[in-house]
Amino acid sequence: MKLLVTGADGQLGHDVLAVAAARGVRAQGADIRELDITDGPAAADFIGQSRPDAVIHCAAYTAVERAQGEPERCEAVNVLGSGNIARACAAAGAKMIYISTDYVFNGEARVPYDTGDEPAPLNVYGRTKLLGEHLTAQYCPRSFIVRTSWVFGLHGNNFVKNILSAASQKNEIDVVCDQTGSPTYTADLAGLLIDMAFTEKYGLYHATNEGLCSWADFAQEILCLAGLKTRVNRIPSSRYPSKVPRPVYSALSKRSLDAAGFSRLPPWQDALERFMALL
Ligand SMILES: NC(=O)c1ccc[n+]([C@@H]2O[C@H](COP(=O)([O-])OP(=O)(O)OC[C@H]3O[C@@H](n4cnc5c(N)ncnc54)[C@H](OP(=O)(O)O)[C@@H]3O)[C@@H](O)[C@H]2O)c1
Repeated sequence: MKLLVTGADGQLGHDVLAVAAARGVRAQGADIRELDITDGPAAADFIGQSRPDAVIHCAAYTAVERAQGEPERCEAVNVLGSGNIARACAAAGAKMIYISTDYVFNGEARVPYDTGDEPAPLNVYGRTKLLGEHLTAQYCPRSFIVRTSWVFGLHGNNFVKNILSAASQKNEIDVVCDQTGSPTYTADLAGLLIDMAFTEKYGLYHATNEGLCSWADFAQEILCLAGLKTRVNRIPSSRYPSKVPRPVYSALSKRSLDAAGFSRLPPWQDALERFMALL
């Protein structure tokens, strides 16, 4: 088995490579310097020469706020770029694993979203990730689409690091308490993606660390583990300075993961503790 990991310098790409190395799985990483996914012919050449058995496609435009102001750039990477990778995988006979997001849903559900539920993204980022799903399935039948949420990893910026940084400068911080989701540690998700690459169980999956919380609950747990006394002011989304609509509820059902016999990821609190021990 040889893996190719796009977006190798990002949070998830970095940990897919780290977990592959730890497991003795051959893996090549490429970020935009080596492989700009928006360049179709270059992507086809790169994948044709690399000859991977599977491509774990972690490259993406992930700046949710910025995407609203530059939708064309976001679309070029998440839609056109993912389509390029899917076509190149199909041509090279490689499997593809596309990483998607809970932001494909509008958050109006009251029970965890199943893979059969109708997506209805609220923002540019979510819309482009959903279109990337469609092109992946259309161009590369040997593909896995894996939706995850609230990602944190050692390599890159994320909510955990932002909370720790804010708490080092202030005695109290405002954190949104009316959006609920599942934090997900890249090292845990990476292991599952590599497991998938060894199988032929193609399809649509939801994969997050187990359990649900609000951003305020998440912040509270981070501060508790860090031994910090900073106060968390629980504020509604309406008081958060953002113009980007986000789903208020994005729990993801793991039914398809269970049905395929893949292991669920550990609880988010356990993942956070392991992550923070490495900071
Ligand atoms: N972060 C989250 O909370 C979250 C939640 C749900 C799903 N996801 C999905 O999970 C996956 C991994 O997310 P992540 O947090 O690891 O993202 P990330 O840290 O932003 O990594 C993405 C990587 O892709 C690179 N990239 C951007 N444009 C590219 C291009 N044209 N060609 C090649 N590489 C390019 C980025 O480079 P630059 O940094 O230079 O732009 C970055 O290194 C993505 O598909 C994302 O949509 C993330």
